[in-house]
Amino acid sequence: PRIRAVVTTGGRGLGRDIIDRLPGLEIVACSAVGTEKLDLAACRARGIAVTNTPDVLTDDVADMAMALLLMARRRLVEGDAHVRSGAWAREGMFPLTPTLTGKRLGILGLGRIGQAIAARAEAFRMEIGYVARAPRDVPYARLPDAEALAGWADALVVATPGGAGTRGLVSAPVIRALGPGGTLVNISRGSVVDEPAMIEALASGALGAAGLDVFAAEPAPDPALLALPNVALSPHHGSGTVETRDAMARMVVDNLVAHFNGAPLISPVA
Ligand code: GLV
Repeated sequence: PRIRAVVTTGGRGLGRDIIDRLPGLEIVACSAVGTEKLDLAACRARGIAVTNTPDVLTDDVADMAMALLLMARRRLVEGDAHVRSGAWAREGMFPLTPTLTGKRLGILGLGRIGQAIAARAEAFRMEIGYVARAPRDVPYARLPDAEALAGWADALVVATPGGAGTRGLVSAPVIRALGPGGTLVNISRGSVVDEPAMIEALASGALGAAGLDVFAAEPAPDPALLALPNVALSPHHGSGTVETRDAMARMVVDNLVAHFNGAPLISPVA
């Protein structure tokens, strides 16, 4: 009964089981932009305020998307091993890879992070297409759905929120549409991609390569995925820089201070 505030992370969230045991709870401050593991309905029903940490992590997450895109498409993980193992001297030149410059980038979800990815992709002279619930005031092609976007694109970046609304959105047909020359990047949530279908496609060559910061199972992703050579893996670290984690922590504290001072919250979740 003495607890009035909870600080949590995106990965941990806060379920109804705990919320129900905190009768004095007034605010939940989440150190993440994604709040799908937080029971927002339970908070709303009790009038509990919820805050997250948007904006401050946008650039780092967009950087991670571009890094994974280059890593996967240019096969940097295998290239690194080619040098370290001595294969370069023993076996010779590393195989040629597809280029990125001038190719089509499909962005699934054109929110703050999706738009920051698009800005970076423009510098790579990529043609940009997107899928979003509502049209955006941007000079990019808007495709009707994920499958159409994947069919159009050379590389697809998943930048939607997680949660029930986007579960399995990158389905087996979407992955097939991206094709053997295609590169899939996910900096959103593992739940958005049909991971077994993706693994099968990567193993059979039906999908060219993938760059993944997020997984269906974290922190121990499917071993079948870890065994594939054509994936670049990152430990859910899109926002994992010193500067951004400092800014996120600051935002958590500023929201709590605002709440207990009776001031407007910095970043309330609607
Ligand atoms: C990280 O995944 C976040 O939601 O901020």
